[in-house]
Amino acid sequence: MTLLAVNELSKYFGGVKAVDGVSFGVDHGEIVGLIGPNGAGKTTCFNLISGLLTPTRGSVSLLGHSLGGLAPYYRSRRGLARTFQNIQLFGGMDVLENVLTGCHQRQEIGAFRALWPGRGVRRAETRAEERARELLALVGLAERADFPADALAYGEQRRLEIARALAQEPRLLMLDEPAAGLNSRETEDLMTLLQELRERGITLLIIEHDMTLIMGLCHRVVVLDHGQVIAAGPPSEIRRDPRVIEAYLGREEDDGDL
Ligand SMILES: Nc1ncnc2c1ncn2[C@@H]1O[C@H](COP(=O)(O)OP(=O)(O)O)[C@@H](O)[C@H]1O
Ligand SMILES: [Mg+2]
Repeated sequence: MTLLAVNELSKYFGGVKAVDGVSFGVDHGEIVGLIGPNGAGKTTCFNLISGLLTPTRGSVSLLGHSLGGLAPYYRSRRGLARTFQNIQLFGGMDVLENVLTGCHQRQEIGAFRALWPGRGVRRAETRAEERARELLALVGLAERADFPADALAYGEQRRLEIARALAQEPRLLMLDEPAAGLNSRETEDLMTLLQELRERGITLLIIEHDMTLIMGLCHRVVVLDHGQVIAAGPPSEIRRDPRVIEAYLGREEDDGDL
């Protein structure tokens, strides 16, 4: 069953065709990799799918419903959550509070509290906090709940961002370079976590340069270059595809070797 459908999606910045007629689908339960050299248009695709950018043309739909014109918040209500290439946390807040900002339930409590303060609201808050603590345990940060987010090590911040995205209870979790800056041990732990998420029914779309992660986890890989899809298929085929090898080897600034 198709969860996400991206159809002829394009984004032009002046003369730069950052994303140029990109189409691909993600089925429910799949782990799909979105790869390509720096500047290929991967992050722009995520920004279009999550609603941070408006496409020049093309469409995105989730479970057959168009997301066109919907602001990011409403897309997240429909089941999309994402993390950012440059980690975006609330540095001054503690770790638990960061996860709570992802809870829709919690966001609604804020409004209800003003109108009907009372036991029902407190119960909902307790539930949200329990859930947030479960998610912290899942990503291995249970012991860090009371730390300020900006006191965490880099790899921990990446995992916190994933926990906050999971608090939105997404159907599709989109990760923009989750292994960037991680050492090989941390990358292995991340792969275990992502596998676990998939077993819990979360579909994953992952931008990543780490080919061990992409080849080890993904059912299917979509390759972008110059804003266009140049190849798509299972990892074993992608790594042998001459167009893909050329796209990577043709760029000296890129270290992503297949
Ligand atoms: N807000 C923007 N304004 C102008 N150009 C942009 C903007 N965002 C991205 N670009 C350009 O679009 C292209 C694709 O960028 P990006 O999607 O970040 O690539 P990737 O994530 O694959 O490295 C690049 O040439 C980049 O400079
Ligand atoms: Mg990027």
